[in-house]
Amino acid sequence: MSMWRRPRRLPLSVITMLVTERVFTAVLLLFTAMAATTAAFTGWQHGSSLFGHQNDYNHVCYRTVPNPYVYFGTKTTYGAVAGNDLQTPQDCRPMQVWMVSRHGTRYPSRKKIEELKKLNELKTMITADSTMCPEDIVAIKNWNTNLTKEDHYTLQRQGVEELKSLAIRLKRQFPQIFNNPYTESNFKFLTSHKQRAKDSATVFYQTVFHENPENELPVVKTSDDRLYLYKCKQVEDDDDDTKGKGEVEKFEDGPLVRSVVSRVSMAMGLKQNLSYENVSLMLESCKYEKAWYIQSRPAWCAVFTQNDFEILEYVDDLKYYYDNGYGNSIGERMGCPIMKDLIDNFKNLARGNQGPLGIFYFGHSPNVLSVVARLGIGKDDTPLLSTNYEQMKNRKWRTSFIDPFASNVIAVFYKCRDGNKAMILLNEHGIPMGKDECRICPWEPIEAKFNAITSDNQTCNLNMCKSSGSLSSINLVIVIFTYIIHSLYI
Ligand SMILES: *[C@@H]1O[C@H](CO)[C@@H](O)[C@H](O)[C@H]1NC(C)=O
Ligand SMILES: *[C@@H]1O[C@H](CO)[C@@H](O)[C@H](O)[C@H]1NC(C)=O
Ligand SMILES: *[C@@H]1O[C@H](CO)[C@@H](O)[C@H](O)[C@H]1NC(C)=O
Ligand SMILES: *[C@@H]1O[C@H](CO)[C@@H](O)[C@H](O)[C@H]1NC(C)=O
Repeated sequence: MSMWRRPRRLPLSVITMLVTERVFTAVLLLFTAMAATTAAFTGWQHGSSLFGHQNDYNHVCYRTVPNPYVYFGTKTTYGAVAGNDLQTPQDCRPMQVWMVSRHGTRYPSRKKIEELKKLNELKTMITADSTMCPEDIVAIKNWNTNLTKEDHYTLQRQGVEELKSLAIRLKRQFPQIFNNPYTESNFKFLTSHKQRAKDSATVFYQTVFHENPENELPVVKTSDDRLYLYKCKQVEDDDDDTKGKGEVEKFEDGPLVRSVVSRVSMAMGLKQNLSYENVSLMLESCKYEKAWYIQSRPAWCAVFTQNDFEILEYVDDLKYYYDNGYGNSIGERMGCPIMKDLIDNFKNLARGNQGPLGIFYFGHSPNVLSVVARLGIGKDDTPLLSTNYEQMKNRKWRTSFIDPFASNVIAVFYKCRDGNKAMILLNEHGIPMGKDECRICPWEPIEAKFNAITSDNQTCNLNMCKSSGSLSSINLVIVIFTYIIHSLYI
């Protein structure tokens, strides 16, 4: 315990270690074990080192392989990586559930929906030299898309399911919290202004309270540093996002991704290499369909080997590492305001005051990742680079596990016979904390650790991003100006 009771001003680096390296290793071992189990069953890939030549895999079908690969970065389906650690220990009573959630599985952007139609052309290019099994080829030839522009970015059926089932699990585990009627003082909702986040919040609400919200659920104000991160980063979980380049671009132009492109081209029996853009489209189709129809065998997945999937997964990891993670100099700081909200709410309860029973935030990848980075989860000793894929094979920063569709950080405050306790979960995996790697831990040491960061009014805000904020207001002025000129000419 003495270790916990250090003076308030610990260096930042120490404080962020609440979730210590060792601790996270345990979580990671679990992840790795899960991944390894999958890998062990997936013998379908062409191009494995066991068999020298691609053609040796002619007989292996994606259609029939057991346990196909599902770790698709931020398009991973929640159920593939979620844990089962929501619980209340004996002699404890949950007092408050606090949550930040990404929206559930969605449809692609308008632009991506348009681009996916190009696959109808690419599917006709498969030749007799294809190394894929006949059933897989037939599936690709029969592939089509029925998406329309109206679908863009909306919550898909599976996304509705994800939020619904999360609400059901919470209600079952914490009836003392969730079996209370909705009032504005009992339950705080806040959502991003995007429809898919609003819809996720609404599904969650409907499932918990068996009714529709009487009024529109509160939408975040642009001045709210807890949830509105656009002033720092324009990124969200966008298909069309072009930020975080640099290492991402170098990796995409590098030998590993080129080898994927080459293998996919050969799998299709082509004499020429496809462009990376076209291979990306095939992957997008594969990922999305797997997320929408989790039992399905999406046609376009068959052009990839597991090795290919793993290489392309690193593209997502690099992107979010530099946009929202430890590769960004303000990655950890971006999560301070939302973390402060958590700490202040639990502190209030610890002082014996009344507080809301539930506090729920609905947003996007950056919202969850900001909390993850502030907690120190998924932090590697070595930075992720375009050049160290092999070295980082066992990296902790894997967006598939950290930020699937409907990813969430949940924190629970308990009053127990032996004092106040708290549990923090990432995608329903209890995060081991402190020296003894407890999952349901005494509250005071947690408060002491985090209060040191979150109580600093000078740093616990997004003021460092003000300059980019004023940049966008310049843009706005230009837009308005252009509009005025335009209307003058009509
Ligand atoms: C599109 O196709 C999928 C899979 O075949 C099907 O489940 C879905 O209902 C279709 N959507 C529309 C709008 O037709
Ligand atoms: C395809 O790409 C691979 C890897 O970059 C390269 O080795 C190969 O020569 C290319 N094939 C053709 C036909 O250009
Ligand atoms: C692939 O994509 C590029 C650019 O998006 C396009 O110009 C090309 O015709 C496509 N087809 C092939 C076979 O690469
Ligand atoms: C930080 O701000 C809060 C509210 O704005 C205020 O109550 C508190 O005293 C401030 N703390 C410090 C250390 O300035």
